[in-house]
Amino acid sequence: MSQRTLVLVKPDAVRRGLVGEIVSRLENKGLTIEEMQTRTMDGELADTHYAEHVDKPFYPPLKDFMTSGKLVALIVSGDEAITVVRSLAGATDGRKAAPGTIRGDLSLSNRENLIHASDSEDSAKREIALWFPDN
Ligand code: PPS
Repeated sequence: MSQRTLVLVKPDAVRRGLVGEIVSRLENKGLTIEEMQTRTMDGELADTHYAEHVDKPFYPPLKDFMTSGKLVALIVSGDEAITVVRSLAGATDGRKAAPGTIRGDLSLSNRENLIHASDSEDSAKREIALWFPDN
């Protein structure tokens, strides 16, 4: 079933010059980039995007990091795109993510972990509406 999902290429990836590498991995898999925009996440957008995490102890450092510089927001589509992008991204903690995944190959951190991808159909719908209101 064709799906759309929201991907954020996080500020660490932009700083490290890994945007092309990460977008290539999505494209090489056969996924389609529907929309792509360089953005800065402000505090308000962070609180809305991460609404389910705002009370967790890791939220303050996550918010600081996500608002620390430019990121790239994308709508990615394709067959089972939500699960496929999550599996290309790998486990949250780059130190534990499997080799061959984006985080497993390129990240050594659970905060600076390069990519966010919607984790369900409901989140994808909500996050796409938040980042790309015209879609
Ligand atoms: S949970 O509680 O299992 O749902 O959380 P998880 O999916 O593992 O992580 C949710 C997002 O929080 C980020 N995260 C952190 N950021 C900063 N510091 C610490 N310690 C930390 N731990 C988790 C993690 O990268 C997830 O970000 P997104 O953007 O959703 O991938």
